[in-house]
Amino acid sequence: MALVLFTSIFAAAAVLVDSEWPHIFFDWTVTYSRRAPLGVDKQAFSKSTLLFNFDFCMNGVQLRRNSWQDGVQETNCPISPGQNWTYSFQIKDQIGSFFYFPSILLHKAAGGYGAIRVRNRDNVPVPFAQPYQEFDILIGDWFNADHRTMRASLDEGNSLPIPDGILINGVGPNQAIFDFELGAIYRLRISNVGLKTCLNFRIEDHLMLLVETEGSYTVQQYYSSLDIHVGQSYSVLVTAKEQAYNGLSYYMVASSRFTALELFGVGIIRYPDSEVDRFGLLPAGPPPYDYEFSVDQARSIRWNLSTGAARPNPQGSYHYGSINISRTLVLENGFMYEGSRLRYTINGVSFVHPDTPLKLADYFQLNDEFTSVSFPDSPINNSTLPTLGTSVIDANYRDFVHIVFVNPQQHVQTWHIDGYNFFVVGMEWGPWNESKMATYNMVDAVSRSTVQVYPSSWTAILTDLDNQGMWNLRSQYAENWYLGQELYIRVKGVGEEDPSTIPARDEAPIPVNIIKCGRAKSL
Ligand SMILES: *[C@@H]1O[C@H](CO)[C@@H](O)[C@H](O)[C@H]1NC(C)=O
Ligand SMILES: *[C@@H]1O[C@H](CO)[C@@H](O)[C@H](O)[C@H]1NC(C)=O
Ligand SMILES: *[C@@H]1O[C@H](CO)[C@@H](O)[C@H](O)[C@H]1NC(C)=O
Ligand SMILES: *[C@@H]1O[C@H](CO)[C@@H](O)[C@H](O)[C@H]1NC(C)=O
Ligand SMILES: *[C@@H]1O[C@H](CO)[C@@H](O)[C@H](O)[C@H]1NC(C)=O
Ligand SMILES: *[C@@H]1O[C@H](CO)[C@@H](O)[C@H](O)[C@H]1NC(C)=O
Repeated sequence: MALVLFTSIFAAAAVLVDSEWPHIFFDWTVTYSRRAPLGVDKQAFSKSTLLFNFDFCMNGVQLRRNSWQDGVQETNCPISPGQNWTYSFQIKDQIGSFFYFPSILLHKAAGGYGAIRVRNRDNVPVPFAQPYQEFDILIGDWFNADHRTMRASLDEGNSLPIPDGILINGVGPNQAIFDFELGAIYRLRISNVGLKTCLNFRIEDHLMLLVETEGSYTVQQYYSSLDIHVGQSYSVLVTAKEQAYNGLSYYMVASSRFTALELFGVGIIRYPDSEVDRFGLLPAGPPPYDYEFSVDQARSIRWNLSTGAARPNPQGSYHYGSINISRTLVLENGFMYEGSRLRYTINGVSFVHPDTPLKLADYFQLNDEFTSVSFPDSPINNSTLPTLGTSVIDANYRDFVHIVFVNPQQHVQTWHIDGYNFFVVGMEWGPWNESKMATYNMVDAVSRSTVQVYPSSWTAILTDLDNQGMWNLRSQYAENWYLGQELYIRVKGVGEEDPSTIPARDEAPIPVNIIKCGRAKSL
């Protein structure tokens, strides 16, 4: 059991825990409050009295054999007004930077997200010296519109508009201030918690040493700026200056990528003798449409094979490159119209939610939930029409799966799989075919849970399905997710396959506090 620390942007509650205390409890009451980070007032989340249906998802935290706690629409019934629910899970083998966010009804547009730090125990080494201090930095696009208005607009068939701005830790320009001591080393845990905008993160006149992404230690390299796609998390070490000149502060910038209108989130790094707030030009990032920069940087992020990781074996002792692939899925993102309403698809299927969450339907054997489509393993061709369906991919425990995300659209995409990390083995322009497998990085690809796919490009991942349960695979773009771009992977458990090949462990039992809804309500 590792240690976990939650901080919440809108409650500003950082909870510090004793390093030997194995159980941590957080008591959240969730409500709205009015906030205006960019000068326009709207309802945002705070954690105080419960007024609405919600669920929380722990982005990137692998809930081992316990999708009951995943907090997405097909694993958990929503927590309704006046109700309470305790997410109860153990963090294992996973040290790193993650975040949580409200997962249903476009609630993410009202904030309510926060950082999750999973820290090492004292006897588990990390591959860098203890930093002087850590900062959680949550960057993301922000819309002044109320999330219910935004949801209604999506329901009517519109797309989300251009965001109104970029926030750093929930606040507008020059409001997020980080104090540096001369010469000290800081760990910055940065996550893109936004709805749809890839961001370039940089600090004026300071380099960032990349050390970790989503629970994996990376080869340590310096970057002057980092592209952080929606839903991704990184840790960097930043060494403060030995001297701060002329009482200067420094800008921290998160600027939008691949957008016609460049938006800027701005924070301030302040030194002890800084007398004035920073003014003047922001440090320049890469040109907004420089995809090459972004792809080259993504390819440069690799696994440090010699690092003892969160897992008991050093990372490099797990040779993913020598495992035979048991199944290949080619997943292509697309769109369709349901009447006049825009919807998003994967392989021609746009996900519709059944009346009972799939996890409960599975448990109570309401099997008709699963009959709607046999989900295709590869993209549909021109002679097949896209459809609505409840897409579930049935997979066997320990299948070693190869997934190719194909993006024929003109916008960058990001994908996430709950319950898993995967190796990002390839990323390239143009169409994918099997001959591309010869070009994969089968040695030191980074292992993470959220990956981008550039326009007219593909990204290939490999993952070992060693975590039983019902797991959500989704577009990290709030609009695409809300409008059907997701599916579930049902990784079968012990007894559903040859038990002799499976370690004697089973999925977590149904929680005693389970909330029931739909046709499971009275069961
Ligand atoms: C949570 O719900 C249970 C069951 O309805 C109830 O007994 C308990 O008092 C509630 N707890 C809080 C903190 O509201
Ligand atoms: C990999 O991690 C080890 C510590 O486990 C460290 O000494 C080494 O410098 C790292 N290598 C790179 C290339 O980052
Ligand atoms: C992988 O497949 C090849 C060819 O089918 C087979 O010879 C080899 O034993 C397999 N390796 C493993 C580790 O299963
Ligand atoms: C689908 O149709 C378009 C235009 O007619 C064509 O360019 C494309 O190659 C076709 N794709 C497939 C998979 O047949
Ligand atoms: C298109 O896909 C369908 C279903 O997989 C298949 O039956 C049909 O032969 C395909 N048509 C072409 C032109 O490839
Ligand atoms: C695979 O794609 C390459 C271009 O990227 C092409 O040259 C090659 O012929 C394709 N192979 C097959 C089997 O379609």
